[in-house]
Amino acid sequence: MRLGKRVTELLGIDCPIVQGGMAWVAEAELAAAVSNGGGLGIIAAASMPPELLDKELKKVRTLTDRPFGVNIMLMSPTASDAIEVAAANRVPVATTGAGSPGKVLERLKPLGTKVVPVVPTTALARRVERQGADAVIVEGCEAGGHIGELTTMVATPLVVDAVDIPVIAAGGIADGRGMAAAFALGAEGVQIGTRFVCASECRVHENYKRAILNARTEAPP
Ligand SMILES: Cc1cc2nc3c(=O)[nH]c(=O)nc-3n(C[C@H](O)[C@H](O)[C@H](O)COP(=O)(O)O)c2cc1C
Repeated sequence: MRLGKRVTELLGIDCPIVQGGMAWVAEAELAAAVSNGGGLGIIAAASMPPELLDKELKKVRTLTDRPFGVNIMLMSPTASDAIEVAAANRVPVATTGAGSPGKVLERLKPLGTKVVPVVPTTALARRVERQGADAVIVEGCEAGGHIGELTTMVATPLVVDAVDIPVIAAGGIADGRGMAAAFALGAEGVQIGTRFVCASECRVHENYKRAILNARTEAPP
């Protein structure tokens, strides 16, 4: 069986690579570039007022005819608006971050949206599976931000053993080696964030990209 087949079939993509939703970073151009490349591009709702999110979701459709997703950051004060904008735009895939995705599952799944929550623990992974999640993204603390305390190396096999739905690993994965490691741990796909910040289609400041590219294991002097 081809590796990642359950994820590619579920999401309608060619390679089991999801571009992480990233507040202030993941906009239509980046998402479209990833989707056109065969992965799943995602627009991050967290930093966008509802009108801007609506505009970006309409824009991505002019840039790609491939599936794409929206990331709904549940801690954001505009999360409920984002769910409605995603519903109105019949978004193919929704990922969620920083919270329990019950409302997103309830509202978007009946519309045909595949809902893939980000989880830090086996307990939340099991709960969202019971609630009807199509897959989960297990995010290790390498990813930074609003996540749990386990590393990707530890959390991925635990979550893989805890649920039957496909598991996508995130946190500290930036190239083929990391992807192979995630698959060795039982993941069926990867979500990559920081590496995509450096993409030429990503609109962040060049200094941010350079800081990532120049990062070393040693602390700066
Ligand atoms: C700048 C930045 C902003 C992020 N914002 C969000 C967000 O709004 N919602 C979310 O669920 N995850 C967010 N994430 C996490 C990413 O979606 C992804 O899971 C993570 O970056 C994966 O780890 P990596 O950067 O080591 O590849 C963010 C990550 C970065 C780097």
